[in-house]
Amino acid sequence: MTFSFIQSQIAHQKTQNLYRSRKELDKGTGRLLIHQGEQYINFSSNDYLGLSQHDDLKSAYIRGINQFGCSSSSSSLVTGYTKVHQELEELIADWLEAPKCLLFSTGFSANSGVLSTLGQNKSTGYFLDKLSHASLIDGAFNSKALSRRFKHNDISQLSNMLSNSNCEDKLIVAEGVYSMDGDVGDVSGLNDVAIKHQANLYIDDAHGVGVLGSTGQGTIAQQNLKKGSHLIQMITFGKALATQGAAIAGSEELIDYLVNRCRDYIYSTAMPAANAMATIASIKLCQTEHWRREKISALSQLFKSKLDASIEITDSQSSIIGVFTGSEENALYCQEQLKNRGFWLTAIRPPTVEKGKSRLRVTITANHNDKDISELANCINEVLGKCLQNK
Ligand SMILES: Cc1ncc(COP(=O)(O)O)c(C=O)c1O
Repeated sequence: MTFSFIQSQIAHQKTQNLYRSRKELDKGTGRLLIHQGEQYINFSSNDYLGLSQHDDLKSAYIRGINQFGCSSSSSSLVTGYTKVHQELEELIADWLEAPKCLLFSTGFSANSGVLSTLGQNKSTGYFLDKLSHASLIDGAFNSKALSRRFKHNDISQLSNMLSNSNCEDKLIVAEGVYSMDGDVGDVSGLNDVAIKHQANLYIDDAHGVGVLGSTGQGTIAQQNLKKGSHLIQMITFGKALATQGAAIAGSEELIDYLVNRCRDYIYSTAMPAANAMATIASIKLCQTEHWRREKISALSQLFKSKLDASIEITDSQSSIIGVFTGSEENALYCQEQLKNRGFWLTAIRPPTVEKGKSRLRVTITANHNDKDISELANCINEVLGKCLQNK
């Protein structure tokens, strides 16, 4: 192979404890995960509401397949858009109190697609929170917009940047819940700044939807934002809603524009109607089964209360709790030791997080129970406690 950097970069990742590989699972969703015949309690999945194995979703999927087949077989502008896709878009627009909504096959594609579509020239300024997801960074920095990043959640730095910007169109880009820390962004503060500076606001709520808000509408509803045509919401289906895909909710004009100009939307096969049907079933459960959100909150409190005081965690207010391990080596060691004790969770290392901020990413779902949580906390105290003592 002629790309000589491949060998050297892989070798570098290996020596730095940053090499990534996949694990072929026998079963990967739900409370229990099976790998090479062994069962583990799964603290790695984003199935926050515990819906991935729910009968309502499965039967909706099967009904969808029987009615529409396995694929939508073309893009939405050709023959891929059905009444079910339309019903899902209307349900989401209603739920998020947005004028209109548009479906995408993945959240990555929604983020990068929308930001590259809106970032058409240098008179547009993008202002991204430093911890924005890779798909937002790619979309922004691969577009023609002038993209800058502000310190995580630092509204006064953002405000200064906006004051000093001569850009004609401004878009603030941030998340509702940050995927590696589980902290909730000050979305309401961002909205105030956006309104003050006549900027637009794009909120990726991949990890907030389902978990926050009285019916799981996410961070924007929880913080009771003043809405307007400046606001663009993005939600994903592959996490709390336990299906696949994403939606952009915003003004009628924006959605119409994306249908006509967003290359990710136009030149990609629409999500299968069966997936849209299962997502409708999922949203209905999410809207009514409040106990799932209450359980996540109670289990998260229990987990935090059981960890030793010497163990540092992220400032989480969601399903995601980061347990800092210090070095990458410690993160990998703890992941392995916890696996030996029957827990499956993921070591998160640079470049996903800053150097020195490696961590175990614990995701707590409505399917876990008190015993799972207490036992995990005890094992982390033991395994990570030893690492920290030997440092
Ligand atoms: C904050 C955030 N945005 C977007 C995405 C991408 O969503 P999807 O998995 O649907 O592509 C993710 C997934 O990891 C995410 O964490």
